[in-house]
Amino acid sequence: LSGAGKSTLAIRLEKRLIEKGYPVHLLDGDLIRKGLSSDLGYSSEDRSENIRRIGEVAKLFVDASINTIVAFISPFKKDRERIRKSVNSGQFIEVFLDCPLEICESRDTKGLYKKARNREIKEFTGISSPYEIPLSPEIILHTDQDTVEQSVQKVLTYLEEKNSLLK
Ligand code: ADX
Repeated sequence: LSGAGKSTLAIRLEKRLIEKGYPVHLLDGDLIRKGLSSDLGYSSEDRSENIRRIGEVAKLFVDASINTIVAFISPFKKDRERIRKSVNSGQFIEVFLDCPLEICESRDTKGLYKKARNREIKEFTGISSPYEIPLSPEIILHTDQDTVEQSVQKVLTYLEEKNSLLK
């Protein structure tokens, strides 16, 4: 969900991977939406197209042997599964930031939940647009309970144990 901590964790994870000497690039939802997907809105169709584009871009980076972190809401299971199926087994690692809506809403870092409740924003994820919870993500993080460092460490431990990182 918006406010779950995707960007914060992704930035920190990118930094830790750089420190460890891995090639890494971060694709962040808010930045991509200003550039590559600036023609898209938040209808179901546009969100699917947004995620399709991100998947294709991420694949280009992976082809270039760069570990790629993608920090997007990606609310629909079918869009996530399409990307999972299009890469080699083990190359797609789904991280679910399991944070209750009430917590995300109380953070309201960008003031968007307030606008969504006032109907100034339509089709807002978790309020007026669905979020399909991942049923078998590789990693689940509880960003309402763990610190940023603890969450990042969980991801790093998974990646290193599974030997998933491109060098
Ligand atoms: S996705 O649904 O297409 O995967 P994406 O991650 O790119 O979403 O963009 C979500 C970000 O856009 C949120 O973090 C929030 O800042 C902003 N945003 C603006 N309008 C909406 C909306 N209607 N629903 C969700 N996020 C929105």
